Amino acid sequence: MKQDMIVILDLGSTQNTVVARDIRSLGVYSEIHPHDITTDQLNALENVKGIILNGGENRIVDGVAVEVDPAIYDLGYPVIAIDHPTAKCETYETLPDKETLKAFVFDTCKAEANWNMKNFIEDQVELIRKQVKDKKVLLALSGGVDSSVVAALLIKAIGQQLVSVHVNHGLMRKNESESVVEVFKNQLHANLVYVDATDRFLGKLEGVADPEEKRKIIGGEFIRVFEEEARKLEGIDFLGQGTIYPDIIESGTKTAKMVKSHHNVGGLPEDLQFELVEPLKQLFKDEVRACGIELGLPAEMVYRQPFPGPGLGVRCTGAITRERLEAVRESDAILREEFKKAGLDKKIWQYFTVVPDFKSVGMKNHERCFEYMVIIRAVNTIDAMTASIEKVDWDVLEIITNRVLAEVDHVNRVCFDMSPKPPATIEFE
Ligand code: XMP
Repeated sequence: MKQDMIVILDLGSTQNTVVARDIRSLGVYSEIHPHDITTDQLNALENVKGIILNGGENRIVDGVAVEVDPAIYDLGYPVIAIDHPTAKCETYETLPDKETLKAFVFDTCKAEANWNMKNFIEDQVELIRKQVKDKKVLLALSGGVDSSVVAALLIKAIGQQLVSVHVNHGLMRKNESESVVEVFKNQLHANLVYVDATDRFLGKLEGVADPEEKRKIIGGEFIRVFEEEARKLEGIDFLGQGTIYPDIIESGTKTAKMVKSHHNVGGLPEDLQFELVEPLKQLFKDEVRACGIELGLPAEMVYRQPFPGPGLGVRCTGAITRERLEAVRESDAILREEFKKAGLDKKIWQYFTVVPDFKSVGMKNHERCFEYMVIIRAVNTIDAMTASIEKVDWDVLEIITNRVLAEVDHVNRVCFDMSPKPPATIEFE
């Protein structure tokens, strides 16, 4: 291992990530582990320079105060405790300030500031090779940030032993699947299986108007297609996943309640059991992006805005038709192009178009027409739980409107969605 590490033991604090980020901002790697880690597990971690016991609001679980194995104090590592009364080491009642942390990390623990993406990648490459040996790893490569970065990292570590499967469900944005193939197959020479399942998905979705039903069909079908591909392949022992640290927190830790269940490729049948390879699971989103850039992935892929699993399906409201789906895809491409030109792509958190399943009257070529509308949505948020609208410049909206009306078929009207979240959600379905 290249990097020194400070281990944070989670004794019920909700601030573990704050401490981890503070230490990483000093250039020293920090990992969070559960309070009941054994001394053997701790000793198996390489380059541990010190331990922080982090207690807090959730210190009492089921009426019992969580504690670490007392033998941990005798392993020879410097230990401090935050908000966790103990006579065995120095204790702070609140989060120590940066200077105090700095003194602990560098003076007491003698850690070196060697946390950077280059070293992280080298370390992970070594760990992946150690775990996988000469076996094969299967990965569902959606083209999203996390799966793309994990794919690039696995390719660097094990090359052709990684089998990536990209399922195009027909609800991707314009050129999205093409760019996955271009980057991974043509540039990185990945062992990539591309499955165009457009007809299959759209067939299953035909006439289905209920949003939850649509989501269920898309999610279920995705697992079935992936499973079919997995069964065709032989000798796969591992499943790569783009799990990142916030996914783990949201799924609940030993001291924190679950926020939401998380699975990137959940629901695979019992007889398809793989050991997981999750090299990004200790990274925060910005670090995942930095890792992707260091691995040479294109900036558009690494900095792309969030995109829901059911894709454009939730933006083509009601029962999906190919006609309206095309209108969503084309108008979204125009919006993204114009926002990029106006420098708004890096400023706005998420933006897209929606085509509802009703028509309005208009005039085209001096004749009455009855066609669909495109709704533009542009929002800013920190955590996607609440969101405010971006006050997009009128001139930019006008350019987009004119282009949509001129270039997108079956559309005669463009609207801008002014609604914050709540009461509206970010997506329409
Ligand atoms: P809502 O519509 O709930 O969306 O305000 C909040 C954020 O979550 C994204 N979103 C999803 N992401 N799978 C995902 O990976 C999904 O099924 C899904 N649904 C919504 C949405 O784009 C927004 O960023």
